[in-house]
Amino acid sequence: MRLAVVVAAVLALGTIPASAQDAARGEQVFKKCVACHAVGENAKTKVGPVLNDVFGRTAGTLADYKYSKAMIGVGEGGLVWTHETLFEYLHKPNEMVKGTKMAFAGIKSDEEINDLLAYLQTFSPDYVPAAGGEEEGEDSDEGEEGGGK
Ligand code: HEC
Repeated sequence: MRLAVVVAAVLALGTIPASAQDAARGEQVFKKCVACHAVGENAKTKVGPVLNDVFGRTAGTLADYKYSKAMIGVGEGGLVWTHETLFEYLHKPNEMVKGTKMAFAGIKSDEEINDLLAYLQTFSPDYVPAAGGEEEGEDSDEGEEGGGK
């Protein structure tokens, strides 16, 4: 059953639990990004956009950031940042988004990327991954987003 294999693979990728340990290792990996990206409460735009709430964001759509045409283009084409798309992007940014102005060669290790994504996801608290299209009990129904003014 080829389909079953594919489904299993997708599920495995989509449901990797973001354990605290992974996130702690991911914080180390994020050092590769801090020259250009910030996360957390006082995060400000650097060379690259703030990565708070990047999970679930359509590529190239943070309001106060000036993206390349390439990044805006893939967003208009429907690219949304999820574990899967970030995983692919961070391996080779310029391959997935040809012409991106993110000057970063990429990360080779799958494990490092998974750790990094576990860390990054802690800054996307409102993100609920779509589990293979099936909703299984929505237990987070906070209506607010962002906050602030
Ligand atoms: C040398 C600077 C630089 C480094 C290092 C860098 N980035 Fe970026 N990043 C950028 C720039 C610039 C953009 C905007 C790209 C564009 O508009 O084409 C960007 C865009 C992104 C986006 C798309 C965000 C959005 O709003 O659509 C993600 C996700 C991202 N970077 C993640 C990372 C991660 C994770 C790392 C570390 C592994 C990293 N970047 C390292 C400069 C950098």
